[in-house]
Amino acid sequence: MQPDKNPVREVLMKIENLKTYFPVKKGVFKRTVGHVKAVDGVSLDVFRGETLGIVGESGCGKTTLGKTILRLCSASEGSVKYQFPDGEQDILQLKGTELDRARKSLQIVFQDPYSSLNPAFTIFGSFADPLRKFGVKKRKEQEEIVAKLLADVNLPRDYMTRYPNEFSGGQRQRIGIARALSVNPELIVCDEAVSALDVSIQAQVLKLLKKLQNEHNLTYLFITHDLSVVEYVADRIAVMYLGKVVELAETDELFKHTLHPYTKALLSAIPIADITRKRKRIPLQGDVPSPVNPPAGCPFHPRCKYCTDRCRTDAPLLTPGTSEGQIHYVSCHHAQEIAEGRME
Ligand SMILES: Nc1ncnc2c1ncn2[C@@H]1O[C@H](COP(=O)(O)OP(=O)(O)OP(=O)(O)O)[C@@H](O)[C@H]1O
Ligand SMILES: [Mg+2]
Repeated sequence: MQPDKNPVREVLMKIENLKTYFPVKKGVFKRTVGHVKAVDGVSLDVFRGETLGIVGESGCGKTTLGKTILRLCSASEGSVKYQFPDGEQDILQLKGTELDRARKSLQIVFQDPYSSLNPAFTIFGSFADPLRKFGVKKRKEQEEIVAKLLADVNLPRDYMTRYPNEFSGGQRQRIGIARALSVNPELIVCDEAVSALDVSIQAQVLKLLKKLQNEHNLTYLFITHDLSVVEYVADRIAVMYLGKVVELAETDELFKHTLHPYTKALLSAIPIADITRKRKRIPLQGDVPSPVNPPAGCPFHPRCKYCTDRCRTDAPLLTPGTSEGQIHYVSCHHAQEIAEGRME
């Protein structure tokens, strides 16, 4: 096996066998009759300073993964070990002041920042609350911090006296980012952070996110269903399917040597402007199966044209291989044969 091209990277967060199941309740007594396996055994390392893209179809568990890491959803199993300045701790086990500290280090920016800004408060009002909570008591100091944060996201100081409904979508998203930055986080989960914006505003916000990443040494978990956005923004990409990571590699490597049949189908659907680069569209057959009763064996097998008997019974593990010196993980029994064109 060849060595990894980027061997010296600090693991900021180690997610191990993470599961988040939501109970399905029925009847007048609200008996639990099953579980939605939204996140079903995810293991991932997140490196300090990187942008890790999380992609996959709607309902595959991207948001639930992000929320579980931030303790906005309860995990059913697993651990999320985080490298705090004074040592590693499992975020899922934290309580009291230690949990507050973790909440400061990890922030989230949603698709619709409107939902995280109180419409009854000015921007200053929305920002002052977390600042107070984390120890900045004097109004003058709070104002200076808010002005600096607005400047960071290219907005003028006097915007702090305005209300959320007085901004455009792109401005609101920048305010959402500034608010996340207000507590000096290390890692930000961007959940479809630019998906609602039109393309030119999207580009501005993505550029801003990159600039802020360099200035504040931020790590991003960038959740999106938009593969062209993730190609632009991510250093590595994890592809999720029915609560599991099915492929993980550096962005270039994933696009150049796609291994999983599911990822191939997803990537084939990206429109390309350059007419000299032809890409054959691979249609995904059928719908995503229910996460309450995921298929036995490989979760993708009912939709996979390469499916064999083994895929119907044995669940493949996410295993590393190397390609051009980079580690590339995939969970598919036939990845190698497909890559070598032996299973067309
Ligand atoms: N609070 C909840 N209670 C019950 N089921 C939930 C809850 N939140 C999410 N789910 C279910 O978990 C699964 C994963 O949902 P999630 O929102 O994580 O998907 P997603 O990948 O973010 O999708 P999208 O791209 O549409 O945002 C879905 O089947 C969803 O219905
Ligand atoms: Mg989502």
